[in-house]
Amino acid sequence: MDFIIKSGLPEKQRTACIVVGVFEPRRLSSLAERLDKATRGYLSNIIRRGDLDGAIGQTLLLHNVPGALTDRVLLVGCGRERELGDSQYRNIVTNAVTTLNGIGATEAVCYLTELNVKGRDTHWKVRQAVETAQDALYRFNQLKSKKDTARRPLRKFILTVPSRRDLAIGEVASKEGAAVAAGVQLAKDLGNLPGNICTPSYLADQAKDLAKRRKHLKAEILEETDMDKLGMGALLSVAKGSRQPPKLIILDYRGGSKSAKPIVIVGKGITFDAGGISIKPAAAMDEMKYDMCGAAAVFGVMSAVADLNLPINVVAIVPSAENLPDGNANKPGDIVTSMSGQTIEVLNTDAEGRLILCDALTYAERYQPSAVIDVATLTGACVVALGRHPSGLLSNHGPLTNDLVSAGKNSGDRVWELPLWEEYQDQLKSNFADMANIGGRDGGTITAACFLSRFTKKYNWAHLDIAGTAWVTGEKKGATGRPVPLLTQYVLERAQEKKRR
Ligand code: BES
Ligand code: MN
Ligand code: ZN
Repeated sequence: MDFIIKSGLPEKQRTACIVVGVFEPRRLSSLAERLDKATRGYLSNIIRRGDLDGAIGQTLLLHNVPGALTDRVLLVGCGRERELGDSQYRNIVTNAVTTLNGIGATEAVCYLTELNVKGRDTHWKVRQAVETAQDALYRFNQLKSKKDTARRPLRKFILTVPSRRDLAIGEVASKEGAAVAAGVQLAKDLGNLPGNICTPSYLADQAKDLAKRRKHLKAEILEETDMDKLGMGALLSVAKGSRQPPKLIILDYRGGSKSAKPIVIVGKGITFDAGGISIKPAAAMDEMKYDMCGAAAVFGVMSAVADLNLPINVVAIVPSAENLPDGNANKPGDIVTSMSGQTIEVLNTDAEGRLILCDALTYAERYQPSAVIDVATLTGACVVALGRHPSGLLSNHGPLTNDLVSAGKNSGDRVWELPLWEEYQDQLKSNFADMANIGGRDGGTITAACFLSRFTKKYNWAHLDIAGTAWVTGEKKGATGRPVPLLTQYVLERAQEKKRR
């Protein structure tokens, strides 16, 4: 879809459809009011009759509005004006876009970007509108023989800003929004692909492809033999139970100065997690194809960062393998040696994410990173603790925590901090190795992070557990593309910080 930024009055628009808001109870937004005046009270008349009282979720399509140059006017319920915050705004835009896409309006001029959203400016509203619109229209159709796409989909979405002075702000916001949306789409596509297609080798090919089409971006793939030489015994032990060879995928983006330390992002790339010998129950096991959503998100961020040509260095590291039961698989009680030299007793082969991540985190040291952020569908316990709204955040560095929390608020892709206290480390004690790979039932998300923390002592590090946020379960099952918006926002803010200095 194309996004265009424009300023101008609603009664002057010659287009297929104009979109304006109506508040509860039966109150026209200021731009709807303008249109109402130009149409001699046509809108207020309809509202007065009670066809729409303005609740969020309601829409009303009007044809042949007298005095307007447009074919149609779409009224969109915006709820109570005083209560219009981030999530209400996103819902309103979603409703508008879904309706437009269904009615065959291939083009629309949308005035919802001029609504007052608590504490938000034009830049935020435009960018969120772009991201939300793309999110709402996303479909995963690749593997269906009959595609369920709209017959005449919305192609051109024109977003308005209050005056010509705001056009430049709007353009920047829409460019950023489009880059984030493309990254989200990539992450969703990779996440939704099944395990028989999206293998570690497939992810490696995707990375090469991504790099080929973008400036400043290079891909490098480490094979099993390379990892063996590096001593990545923990990562390799997970891959042993699968016929798919593991890959360590590196995407290196150098948009900044040569000497600038990179941000390193690490994504868990288990392309299917059956649990290994500690096999999972059958119910919903299909969802473990999503166990590479950390990897997918990291690819999405690299795509967005490269599309925006940001003046900063970012390196993505994706350890990728498949976790299956097999005669050669890890067994409970096996002891493996990680690249760091620390030994690990594998008490549960289903705690495989931390085993592949720990070696990738040690590998990250060689980039002398300014910060390392890993992203992983790591623990079911995180979904129990936090539900499906925020990602879990655990970190060894306060300022990094603050930066991520704030990027989460700005992007709407939020995180919530859990404690990474010393006291929890005891749960990882092993009688036979330096540590066990599980810490018992209590605080499962925290002990998983404690495990990782033993491999991240040399740099500022944060861990994002996205088990509850990376995909939606149930009827609308599908990848969300999170936390691409969060991490892109984080990188954007770091890039801007540098410019200001
Ligand atoms: N990929 C899973 C985590 C997961 C489970 C994400 C359910 C989303 C939904 C991970 O590899 C895993 O199996 N973790 C175990 C850890 C346990 C064995 C300590 C878990 O959460 O049960
Ligand atoms: Mn597992
Ligand atoms: Zn897993």
